[in-house]
Amino acid sequence: MVNLIVNPTSGVKTEISVPGDKSISHRAVMIGALANGDTVINGFLTGADCQATIKCFRKMGIEVQIGNDQIIVKGKGLKGLKEAKEALDVGNSGTTMRLMLGILAGQNFTSQINGDSSIQKRPMMRVVGPLREMGASISGQVRGENVYAPLKIIGGKLSPIKYGLPIASAQVKSAILLAGLFAEGKTTVIEKNQARDHTERMLSYFGANIQVVGLESWVLGQKEFSGAEIHVPGDISSAAYFIVQGLIVPNSEILIRNVGVNPTRTGILDVLHRMGADIQVLDETILSEEPRANILIKTSKLKGVKIEGAIIPRIIDEIPIIAVAATQAEGVTEIRGAKELRVKESDRIATVSSELRKLGANIKELDDGMIIEGPTKLKGTTVKSYGDHRIAMAMAIAGLVAEGQTVVEDTDCIETSFPGFGERLGNCCIVDPQYQFNNEKDFNET
Ligand code: S3P
Repeated sequence: MVNLIVNPTSGVKTEISVPGDKSISHRAVMIGALANGDTVINGFLTGADCQATIKCFRKMGIEVQIGNDQIIVKGKGLKGLKEAKEALDVGNSGTTMRLMLGILAGQNFTSQINGDSSIQKRPMMRVVGPLREMGASISGQVRGENVYAPLKIIGGKLSPIKYGLPIASAQVKSAILLAGLFAEGKTTVIEKNQARDHTERMLSYFGANIQVVGLESWVLGQKEFSGAEIHVPGDISSAAYFIVQGLIVPNSEILIRNVGVNPTRTGILDVLHRMGADIQVLDETILSEEPRANILIKTSKLKGVKIEGAIIPRIIDEIPIIAVAATQAEGVTEIRGAKELRVKESDRIATVSSELRKLGANIKELDDGMIIEGPTKLKGTTVKSYGDHRIAMAMAIAGLVAEGQTVVEDTDCIETSFPGFGERLGNCCIVDPQYQFNNEKDFNET
């Protein structure tokens, strides 16, 4: 097991970049595989989750060439995938599994899909339900009202649907839109609160027939599209750890270059601004339909805020690190309407609360969120990740402002989204010597 040993620090003045956006990297491989011709991806996230997506598509006959700075996906069009000889393995990646279900449902072959023990606990009915409405035949492990991996998908003819999303989830929305690429006619999804829209932007960029009007998106199926060049910006969900580092570590100034600032993802900036953060978004540009900018962060005196409603899907992956910021803010921060956190890589309401409490935070767990009262002088101790990358990284940042040493146990999971995270923290973080980056080796395996 790999641990991070974190010591308190101050005066962090640095300029960094963070690895490519995970959501965009997954989609670039998937949509590139379904396009005709080459898709060139710059800035691809080489983390384990996106490697799992590449491996799944390779198993279905798609050639993916890995260069130093670029990945080339040799797309074969909407009818180009082949039956895999063995089960597709998504590892720890919920996005790979849920989005691929939409694609596999529309094939003329049968697939089996599975993942690690955490994936096998994540609810799949949210995707399987609407796909069944489209005519898909998907079976899995039924427990109560839900269904779990391993799953078997007998691909076939799909019919378009008009689907109102009961939960704000980009994974569900994307799975339906991707299935819609294979259905004859117009598949529509309607959201209550907008979740990340990378699928819609990328399909439009590739020339698929997709329209988005307000909270309604529709795709016209069975229309081929061509490969394209994608520039993946840095992942704001990874930048979030260094944004909070810059805010809470005394006398710091951090510039993070080339961060994706798609408005469906920038809720963290809105929340932190309301908390009184000195964060500037500079030099914004748009490339391959996705905005990106440099972000300058200066240490700030934060205050507690109430966080609920439409912003929740825009901060869903950032809530653990927002909770860390809240421990250093004056007053009460209340997060509500975030029950979805309970079905992420870990039950993040429970895991954030228990680990921050170990560090001395004043935090109360709610059914759908948490209440944090600050500021608290945290005290270093041993905490664990529960195999969840976002918990591991959030606790490491908390350790930077704790008194004494903090040991974050079981941090191998960080590889899923942020290879090199510990190294980027500099001298105040010792990566356990056993910690190895096998990333490149794994990545080039066919
Ligand atoms: C993602 C959507 C979100 C997010 C996940 C990535 C995506 O999940 O938590 O890390 O790439 O579509 P939900 O759609 O389940 O909220």
